[in-house]
Amino acid sequence: MKKMISKLLGVMLVMAMVFSLAACSSKEPAKTTDTGTKDTSTTEDKTSEEKTVKKVGVAMPTQSSQRWIQDGDNIKKELEALGYQVDLQYAEDDVQAQVSQIENLINNGADCLVVAAVDSSALVNVLGEAKNNNIPVIAYDRLLMDTDAVSYYATFDNEGVGVAIGTYIEEKMELATAAADGRTYNIEFFMGSPDDNNAVFLDNGIHKVLDKYLDSGVLVCQSGQTTFDKTNTLRWSQETAQKRCEDILSGFYGDGEHLDIAASAFDGLSYGISAALVGAGYTPGDGWPLITGQDAELMAAKNIISGSQSMSIFKDTRVLAEKAVTMVQAVLEGKEPEINDTTTYNNNVKTVPSYLCTPVAVDIDNYSEVLIDSGYYTADELK
Ligand code: BGC
Repeated sequence: MKKMISKLLGVMLVMAMVFSLAACSSKEPAKTTDTGTKDTSTTEDKTSEEKTVKKVGVAMPTQSSQRWIQDGDNIKKELEALGYQVDLQYAEDDVQAQVSQIENLINNGADCLVVAAVDSSALVNVLGEAKNNNIPVIAYDRLLMDTDAVSYYATFDNEGVGVAIGTYIEEKMELATAAADGRTYNIEFFMGSPDDNNAVFLDNGIHKVLDKYLDSGVLVCQSGQTTFDKTNTLRWSQETAQKRCEDILSGFYGDGEHLDIAASAFDGLSYGISAALVGAGYTPGDGWPLITGQDAELMAAKNIISGSQSMSIFKDTRVLAEKAVTMVQAVLEGKEPEINDTTTYNNNVKTVPSYLCTPVAVDIDNYSEVLIDSGYYTADELK
């Protein structure tokens, strides 16, 4: 009997120790992670140091254009400097590839996603998965449409880009005084991708400035293709723009008509337009049209210096990346990021709180100051 009682007491003692240990571990104060956020999970959930480092998944559209490579590099570098683990993916303009990449980022335990969409409306389901997993999503440069899963949007003033392009054309061609002088100019429009909300905003911006000159006859569009349904370029493709420009030149400019202005929404399109112009017998420096662009890519900057492109829009991807990174940091720390626009960007489901950076028009007169003095390119790179 005595033996049994002491055995029972022994068992009770062991159990009491186990319980007090368990109670002790659950009362352990929340640890602070590398990112400074409170880690409220138990020690059983997170055993290794690796799990306390927050993961950020970054989905970029393509490496075929210089800007997205810089965007991706800048975001990765800055997030890593803050102690985050970054998985950067490029979809090479393949919509399904981007869906799979985002699925993988979610399955691999991303704590936050930064997405620049290939097709802004094609990610509704996969972003729904992110939302179900409580993963905040930051739309990068391009708005994510038709979803409530997007928390914030970092971009440039996209209508402002169009206004800047339109205003450049207006000023350089002195359109305000053209009617009085009896001057008219032929113009063609090469706009962006219809699945990119930015392209629509840009088109609106250009037409805000130039429509009055189309209406008055100062600007003449020989092809008659002025509306976005006719002027858009799927996936911002250089080849598509070149083909469309070739068709326009052969179809509408055969009878001695001369193209004076190519209103192009992207440097990549401008390269295609230039190739079509050369094919049709135009020569830079000799009646070469005013050609606009966007992104101030290295090749475009060189073309501006050599005179085969008139201007581009400089969007400092370092600034945009920094804004997106501060948004990521804020949401992961449960704070409100800095925003400067709460009304412009409605994605058909919600108006997404945004930070809009300022685009700058760049041409032969200011490229040195805007592109070199800011450290974006070195003088050597532009040679
Ligand atoms: C971006 C532009 C870029 C274009 C083509 C747009 O969404 O805002 O900066 O030129 O995509 O890549």
